[in-house]
Amino acid sequence: MVNAQKFIAQATEEIRQEAGDERVVIALSGGVDSSVCAALASHAIGDRLVPIYVDTGLMRKGETERISYLFGDMNLHVARAGDEFFEALMGVCDPEEKRKVIGERFIRVFEREARKTGAKYLLQGTIYPDRIESEGGIKSHHNVGGMPLHMEFTKVLEPIRDLYKDEVREVAGALGLPSEIQHRMPFPGPGLAVRVLGEVTPEKVAVAREANQIVEEELIEKYRPWQCFAAVLGLGTGVKGDNRVHGWIIAVRAVNSRDGMTADPLHLPYELLERISSRITSEIPSVARVVYDITSKPPATIEYE
Ligand code: XMP
Repeated sequence: MVNAQKFIAQATEEIRQEAGDERVVIALSGGVDSSVCAALASHAIGDRLVPIYVDTGLMRKGETERISYLFGDMNLHVARAGDEFFEALMGVCDPEEKRKVIGERFIRVFEREARKTGAKYLLQGTIYPDRIESEGGIKSHHNVGGMPLHMEFTKVLEPIRDLYKDEVREVAGALGLPSEIQHRMPFPGPGLAVRVLGEVTPEKVAVAREANQIVEEELIEKYRPWQCFAAVLGLGTGVKGDNRVHGWIIAVRAVNSRDGMTADPLHLPYELLERISSRITSEIPSVARVVYDITSKPPATIEYE
C-alpha cells in the first residue's frame, strides 16, 4: 500500500464526492473492515453516515455494549433483533441452512432499519480478497462481498476495495481505532450459531457466549492466536454430588493460520488447559466436560459447522 495517511486522505475525499448530499448507511459489525469504513466515512460526511449495528443475539459477550460505546459518538443505530433470529432458527440444524436463515434475517432487519433513515446509498467494507473470492465463487457460504442488493440503494461505496487485510489493520491504527478493533480475531458472520452444534437455542448460545469469553480471556493476550473460541458440542454425562447428570460438552479450539484456508492447533501448556477447563466447569454449572481440539485444518475446519 501507499502510506496509510495518504490512503485516508484519498478515501475520505472519494467518499465525500461520491456521497454528495446524500445519507449513507453501513452495516457495522465491529470487525476491522466495517469499522475502518465507518471511521473514514464519519470523517468525510459526519452525521450523514448512519452506521447500523444488528444485534443478532448471536454476538459475543459484551459486544453490543462495546460497539455502542466505541461508536456512540456517531449517528449509530442499534437494532436489537435477537428474538427474531432465535425464532427463525427454531428447528434448524443443518449448518448451511443456519447460515442462510441468519443471512436472510440479517438483510431483512438491516433493510428495515435502513429504510427508516431515508438513506439512498450503501457503504460496504469489501476488501480485495473478498472480491477475488466472490468472483472465483470460492467460499460462497461466507458472507463475503457484502449483502445481496435487492434493496433500493442507488449507489454502493466501497472505499477499501483495493486493500488487503493487513493494510486495513494499518489504516485502522492510523485512524486511531482502538487496538481491540485493529487486531480483532476473525469472528464469523453467523456468530455463535456456528459454535453450537445442531439447533440454535438461547440456552446453548448463552453457554457458548460464557465459554468463549473465558477462552478469550485466557488466551488472546498471551498467545495472540489467529482464532480461539469455545463450541458447544452437545450433552454428555457428568457427575454432581452422588448423581450422574447431563451437562454440556465444550470444545476449546485455538489455531494459528495465515489466511484461514489451513490452520494448526496451538501447543498449549497443560496447566493452562486445566485452568480453562476448571474455569468453564465452575463458572458455567451446566457444563459437564471440556475437551481441547488438536485437529489441523484440513481435515477439520476451524469452526465446528
Ligand atoms: P472454516 O470453519 O471454514 O473457517 O475453516 C475459516 C474462517 O472463516 C470463518 N468463517 C466464517 N466467516 N461467515 C463468516 O463471515 C461464515 O459463515 C463463516 N464460517 C467460517 C472462520 O471463523 C474462520 O476464520
